[in-house]
Amino acid sequence: MALDPTLDRLIRDIPKVELHLHIEGTLEPEMVFELAARHGVALPHSSVGALRAAYEFGDLQSFLDLYYAGCDVLRDESDFHAMALAYFERAHRDGVIHAELFFDPQTHTGRGVPMEVVIGGLRRAMDDARSRYGITSELILCFLRHLPEEDAFATLDQALPFLDQLVGVGLDSGERGNPPSKFERVFAAARSHGLRPVAHAGEEGPASYVREALDLLGAERIDHGVRCVEDDGLVERLVRDQVALTACPLSNIKLRVFPEMEQHNLVALLRRGLRVTVNSDDPAYFGGYIAANFRAVARALPIGAADVLRLCENAARAAFVPDAARADLLARIRGAVH
Ligand code: ADE
Ligand code: ZN
Repeated sequence: MALDPTLDRLIRDIPKVELHLHIEGTLEPEMVFELAARHGVALPHSSVGALRAAYEFGDLQSFLDLYYAGCDVLRDESDFHAMALAYFERAHRDGVIHAELFFDPQTHTGRGVPMEVVIGGLRRAMDDARSRYGITSELILCFLRHLPEEDAFATLDQALPFLDQLVGVGLDSGERGNPPSKFERVFAAARSHGLRPVAHAGEEGPASYVREALDLLGAERIDHGVRCVEDDGLVERLVRDQVALTACPLSNIKLRVFPEMEQHNLVALLRRGLRVTVNSDDPAYFGGYIAANFRAVARALPIGAADVLRLCENAARAAFVPDAARADLLARIRGAVH
């Protein structure tokens, strides 16, 4: 479906808040090759084109295999800085004014890259993003759910010296067979340190994982969460408590959570009163950054300017920022609509 030019302009211009973005998922093939050359890392793909052509996924796991392999080129502080700064540059072009970045420290510490190198490079890019583009940002440390609980505890320990540089903890990686209950204790420990809990749930996993994320992890936002529709009582609760769902439309199509964008339930969930937001997940792998996600939704689903505004306001309402900053985000978003 062609995109109405007025809606297209609004999507381009409206200030955006991004709440579901894996910084390692912004590593574009060009940068994979650049960093591989710098560090003398041999790659299984012969060219940038060949790597990009491999981005055809049957499910979440087939994507994760490539995503973790790509991370191998991230070796020093300047690599993390370069990756994150490239994201902020693109985000700025897309009108992002605030971003909360997930990172997967175990993917790096497991290869011998220290926590301080990872956080140091990311934080330096976040400082640059603020001074160059006026983008504010926060960091959310994600535990890899396919690994044991004790590894998550060790990761939390390694992160304690950097507590003031983190806003929250998350849970990602292969969902099926790795329920939130596996991480109940480590999330309790993280919360006791003042970290705000979020979790991927209801992407490939069942609605019961969304309930567990709320009940056992204390999750304040649910990442993806689209399978909540399988449980009417859960939907009512999410509406009542206005728990944000950080939906990632292009990701869901690429990973076959929905066969086509026309079947995505994001607009239906919005109409039911859920606090839905639009985000880009792993944009280097899924074919577009946040504005492309909005455009893909607007082309396939019945949304108008008021819905785009609502989706952007929802993200500002769910951001982990102080009240004054939230009021400022909301005012800037509303200022784009006349
Ligand atoms: N890690 C990076 N992207 C992810 C996703 N969409 N789901 C689970 N883990 C992830
Ligand atoms: Zn994700």
